[in-house]
Amino acid sequence: MRILLSATLALAASASATLADGHSDKCFVDATDPFDLSAEQVVELYACMEGKMLAGYTKGDNPVAAAYRGWAVTSTRPAVAGPHGDRFLQTFANDVAAEQYLKFEDEGVVMPAGSVLAKESFKLGKEGKPVRVGPLFIMTKGEAGVAPDTADWIYSAVQPNGKPMKIKQSFCHNCHVGWEDSDMLAYPLEEVRVSN
Ligand code: HEC
Repeated sequence: MRILLSATLALAASASATLADGHSDKCFVDATDPFDLSAEQVVELYACMEGKMLAGYTKGDNPVAAAYRGWAVTSTRPAVAGPHGDRFLQTFANDVAAEQYLKFEDEGVVMPAGSVLAKESFKLGKEGKPVRVGPLFIMTKGEAGVAPDTADWIYSAVQPNGKPMKIKQSFCHNCHVGWEDSDMLAYPLEEVRVSN
């Protein structure tokens, strides 16, 4: 299994067919099951995808999309948790959120108002298809009382083309409420959490 980066393709003499069909700027991986990739391959794939995610999310005017790459990264590499459509996920925490979030505490968590978590996502394509950018998922903690049905969290998402994604607060919250003791936060998989 091998990840073909565009640079590799551009250098390879045999890559003319790939270049010709306009896929030279895409990221390919020789796998369709995300769980088949090694940690190293995920890191390599992320290197190919990160610019594409950022370029897509910032095509619109979403302020979180414009800012999140300057925030604290919460995992050592993207990982697949299962929920969020079997996508690879990587979460960033803004300055207000980072100190508490990075403790990854299970109980008694109360995130300060102004906390924002932004989560990039990408998904393997079907056989022979490029890896696709998924939505940027966002959780924003409002002042006490602004959103009583969702514990003052406001859920949102940016599509890969930069446009806002239509979502239902209840759709996101009904799953996130499973982590009520950590103020609705599910956190990255344990093996990829940054140590602090
Ligand atoms: C079926 C369950 C489920 C649904 C529905 C869901 N999430 Fe999540 N969400 C998770 C899990 C599990 C994680 C942690 C996994 C990871 O990041 O690796 C997570 C993590 C997040 C994070 C990072 C903060 C955290 O919890 O650690 C954000 C932001 C987020 N989700 C936003 C959303 C938005 C916006 C929606 C609705 C469009 C949504 N989620 C719907 C399960 C869900």
